[in-house]
Amino acid sequence: MSQSAQQHPFLQHDKFLLATFSSNCSGGMTVSKLPDRWQATMENNLKLAKLLDDAGIDFMLPIARWIGYGGETDFHGTVLETMTWAATILAHTKRITAFATMHTVANHPVVLAKQIATLSEASGGRIGLNIVAGWNQPEYQALGLTLPDDHETRYGYAQEWFDFVRKLWTSEEPFDWKGKYWNTTRSYGRPRPLVAPPIVNAAGSGQGRDFATSNVDFLFTPAIDLARSKDEIVQLREQASTKGRKVGVLTFSHVVCRPTEAEAKAELKRQLDNADWDAVDNLVRLQFAHAQSFPHDLLALIRERMATGHGGFPLVGTPEQVADGISQLHEAGFRGTTLSFLDYVKEFPYFRDTVLPILSARGIR
Ligand SMILES: Cc1cc2nc3c(=O)[nH]c(=O)nc-3n(C[C@H](O)[C@H](O)[C@H](O)COP(=O)(O)O)c2cc1C
Repeated sequence: MSQSAQQHPFLQHDKFLLATFSSNCSGGMTVSKLPDRWQATMENNLKLAKLLDDAGIDFMLPIARWIGYGGETDFHGTVLETMTWAATILAHTKRITAFATMHTVANHPVVLAKQIATLSEASGGRIGLNIVAGWNQPEYQALGLTLPDDHETRYGYAQEWFDFVRKLWTSEEPFDWKGKYWNTTRSYGRPRPLVAPPIVNAAGSGQGRDFATSNVDFLFTPAIDLARSKDEIVQLREQASTKGRKVGVLTFSHVVCRPTEAEAKAELKRQLDNADWDAVDNLVRLQFAHAQSFPHDLLALIRERMATGHGGFPLVGTPEQVADGISQLHEAGFRGTTLSFLDYVKEFPYFRDTVLPILSARGIR
């Protein structure tokens, strides 16, 4: 495989990408006590994967999470491991891409490179990689690892990690890796990935965005304020282009779609009224202490959005209104969005039958 020879289908077209996010995690993206909240079983994930695959949805993105956020529900306390989750999804689908989300410090480059290459061969090139440089300090403690305080070290490590992975995927010959973090002799990776796996990352910090614009195909950013997003996307594209690269900017959205606006708003209210606020506050506190994912001046707005959608862009309303929201993301310059639902399997079919045709008619999909 050479990085430029065979491109993954995402990189060959510019249609607006649609995906799901976090279906491998208990509660999905809704920090809720509701009894009908998402149960992240493999059975439910496979039901969802089949629905998405048949509907032509582009990819599924999982979250790598090792401890939950506490509260009454221990939000994200039950999480399917993402490499084995992706393998299972890919084995049961035909078209959709599944990502594995990997913490750099918890996954040795030689092992990771081979896992991805194996799944690439097994799935006809449908595996992608989401790189996480780390931010969640208690989780690091649970893994017995130390989270570096500074982003330079986190992303410096991630850079060497990914350089090593890339070399394993592309080198014709065994090579010695003599770096700051790995010192190896005669390393090589075979098989190679069938096509270059799409690489994503979701850094918010300056150091992380420097990493992203230097290395990845797609960068996730939250869409909190679309006027800001517009400028941010232009800046990110410029930053990438000064390095001779192209980076697509993606975001994540939470969907509450119902036949009438009143019904959609009532459902959003039901989710908010039943939020697990202790878990929400733990999530917000940790995010603000260790990560720079969200603009820190928008905290009040973010707290509610954290409860229903983990900070995702709200797509709440009738099918037409939900399609309008997606159109706005498209117009702001986003290359695509993930979607989450309180119950993905129960709610996706209505979205498929009502919103997707509007997006097709508008030429977005
Ligand atoms: C769409 C998206 C997916 C992410 N996936 C994970 C994940 O699975 N596990 C994780 O620990 N962090 C995840 N993150 C956190 C980011 O990797 C990143 O660490 C965070 O946004 C903070 O940015 P910074 O490292 O530049 O401060 C995700 C963030 C977003 C927006």
